[in-house]
Amino acid sequence: MQSFELYLPVRLVYGSDSVEKLGAAAAPYGRKALVVYGGGSVKRTGLLDRVKKALAAFEIVEFAGIEPNPRVSSVNAAAKTAREEKVDFVVAVGGGSVMDAAKAICAGAKYDGDAWDLVKDSSLIKDALPLFTVLTNAATGSEYDAAGVITNWETNEKQAISSPLLFPKASFCDPAVSTSLPAWHTAAGAADIMSHTFEQYLVKEGNDVSDGFCETILKTVIKNAPICIKDPENVEARAAMMLASSFGCCGLLAIGNTPSPWPCHAIEHEISAWHDITHGVGLAIITPHWMRYSLTPETAPRFARYAVNVWGMDPKEDPMTLANAAIDKTAEFFASIGIPARLSDVGVDDSHFEAMADHIPTCWWPLSGALRPLDREGVLAILRASL
Ligand code: NZQ
Ligand code: ZN
Repeated sequence: MQSFELYLPVRLVYGSDSVEKLGAAAAPYGRKALVVYGGGSVKRTGLLDRVKKALAAFEIVEFAGIEPNPRVSSVNAAAKTAREEKVDFVVAVGGGSVMDAAKAICAGAKYDGDAWDLVKDSSLIKDALPLFTVLTNAATGSEYDAAGVITNWETNEKQAISSPLLFPKASFCDPAVSTSLPAWHTAAGAADIMSHTFEQYLVKEGNDVSDGFCETILKTVIKNAPICIKDPENVEARAAMMLASSFGCCGLLAIGNTPSPWPCHAIEHEISAWHDITHGVGLAIITPHWMRYSLTPETAPRFARYAVNVWGMDPKEDPMTLANAAIDKTAEFFASIGIPARLSDVGVDDSHFEAMADHIPTCWWPLSGALRPLDREGVLAILRASL
């Protein structure tokens, strides 16, 4: 087992009455809140009204319009509002994009300059406003981690901002809130949760505890995502997905494992930076191709474990046969929940592939640490196979 540290200082509040607990949790942090949300789903569903009611004792300033793949321009505008209005804390009401933007807003409000500086160099984050999140979908796990992913359209970069100062103080998760999520984003969220798990599970060395966590998360998504798509109002299935999301990205799944450089995320962020595609959809398209690239006689036993423990295949088969069958199953699953199979299906062409491959080493962990080490040619091979 590898050495590790796990630090999860977020109060995770689940349940149908969770949103109503926001006011009491925020009370020690001040009297004025910046409530940040996206394109309007939280207005349509009534969640924003619930949040405002929970914050009835506070002064509220609203900032609407955070985009999927949130832009640094929105972050800068909201951080300016937070400074001018002298808010005491920020409440993100939304999915990964709103929560991620809110993290950058919390840091940006305490920084005298362009928030992009903080994305490029998170060591510049010396202070941040306290953050609370009200989660609306099962996908990124941003409600339970200290990272956000921000896009800069001027430079075609999509990069993480990360600091222990950006952990939410508390996240409020009512699974029923996610019943309004459309099928496309339900499927994308499922793929994102699975990808977070693969990134930590399909590594050189795991252990019985972390492998068991990963297998449970994968089986949970494989069982419940199709239910959520067929029966969007099924709160039990939505709850299982939301829990899987919260624990997918917080580091728990990787305890004691060989550290992973998250290769599929490295590649997907580059694609989104140029083409603004849905994160989970990009991951679902790339993942089977990354798996095929990574499958060698040395790595086959890892995939075989996945085949047996997640897909219930016969352990007596040889590892290579099992591995190939599990990769096929993975691709079939993504297709079954309505995700297209090719990058060209979502408007991506190969015109920026070289730039993407060149950019990864400037902003990401070395992909030489992946299950099968990935160099520039390897990244290009996966991109071309995914096209
Ligand atoms: O903007 P609104 O109107 O709210 O609509 C959103 C948006 O259009 C909609 N939506 C969310 N909850 C809903 C809903 N519609 C109806 N009912 C609901 N309950 O869904 C659309 C997508 O939302 P978004 O927040 O973009 O999705 P997601 O949660 O998948 O977040 C994706 C972003 O998170 C980043 C991704 O790169 C991407 O930018 N990630 C963040 C991570 C982190 N912080 O740790 C890790 C991830 O790997 C990921 O990179
Ligand atoms: Zn992700």
